[in-house]
Amino acid sequence: MLAMTSATDAVSFFFLFLFLQHSLSTAASDSISIPVPADWPNQFHSVLFINRSGNLQKTDLWYDWPNGRNFNIIQHQLGVLTYDLEWDNGTSFYYTLEPFNKTCKIIHFEVGILRPDWLNGANYLGQEYADNFLCNVWEKVDFITYYEDVLTRRPVKWIFYSGMVAHVITFEVGAVLEDEHWQAPVYCFGETENETLNKKNALLLESEDAVPGGSSLGMLMKGFPHYAYAK
Ligand SMILES: *[C@@H]1O[C@H](CO)[C@@H](O)[C@H](O)[C@H]1NC(C)=O
Ligand SMILES: *[C@@H]1O[C@H](CO)[C@@H](O)[C@H](O)[C@H]1NC(C)=O
Ligand SMILES: *[C@@H]1O[C@H](CO)[C@@H](O)[C@H](O)[C@H]1NC(C)=O
Ligand SMILES: *[C@@H]1O[C@H](CO)[C@@H](O)[C@H](O)[C@H]1NC(C)=O
Repeated sequence: MLAMTSATDAVSFFFLFLFLQHSLSTAASDSISIPVPADWPNQFHSVLFINRSGNLQKTDLWYDWPNGRNFNIIQHQLGVLTYDLEWDNGTSFYYTLEPFNKTCKIIHFEVGILRPDWLNGANYLGQEYADNFLCNVWEKVDFITYYEDVLTRRPVKWIFYSGMVAHVITFEVGAVLEDEHWQAPVYCFGETENETLNKKNALLLESEDAVPGGSSLGMLMKGFPHYAYAK
């Protein structure tokens, strides 16, 4: 009788031991697995509200990786509608259409559009509420702080090193803008206001924009989103 009890106890203890060991190891592996940001979907449409040192704008972002193109259609508050059409070969067209003045600026970047995995290697900073969503937060040094919804893993907000803050209002995975819209106006290819800047001149553009805190050509060329430079 006594021996039976001890045997049962021994078995119970053994299972308890296994259980504890399992719980402990699970807890340990949870605490060492650091969250990583979700890759961007290959194609999406997002409406962004952007605050650039108090200048507000609504941007329609059409990210289209398979077609090597990215579009930012930027409505400045009570102001001009500007188009920033970026190709993965490094050419970006910044233009305005009627009824605004017809302008076009062509800029050649050494890098193409952001890759879907452009957030790889970001430093995890922990969890924080952003725009009322509980977010995981990462930082890419000298570049961006990025907030992703813990539940849905959609981006909620990002803050550029320049201080420009983007709030994600909609995020439509798989939405694609029809080809006919990816066409810079004819005057981008004509004689008028065809300001083609090479990568050296991109610095001028940068100082024009007066990025607070300054930034290096290196950062510009290492994939700072081109639209951060759109007027
Ligand atoms: C925009 O950002 C500035 C700081 O740069 C802040 O003072 C202002 O309140 C912000 N505006 C909105 C509408 O968020
Ligand atoms: C890049 O691609 C776009 C769209 O096809 C084209 O208009 C532009 O001329 C190309 N740029 C270069 C440098 O080839
Ligand atoms: C548009 O062009 C006209 C004539 O060149 C100029 O006076 C006006 O300031 C321009 N408007 C904008 C918003 O650039
Ligand atoms: C304007 O830019 C386009 C596209 O890069 C180029 O083909 C054209 O020759 C340029 N025109 C002038 C006058 O520089």
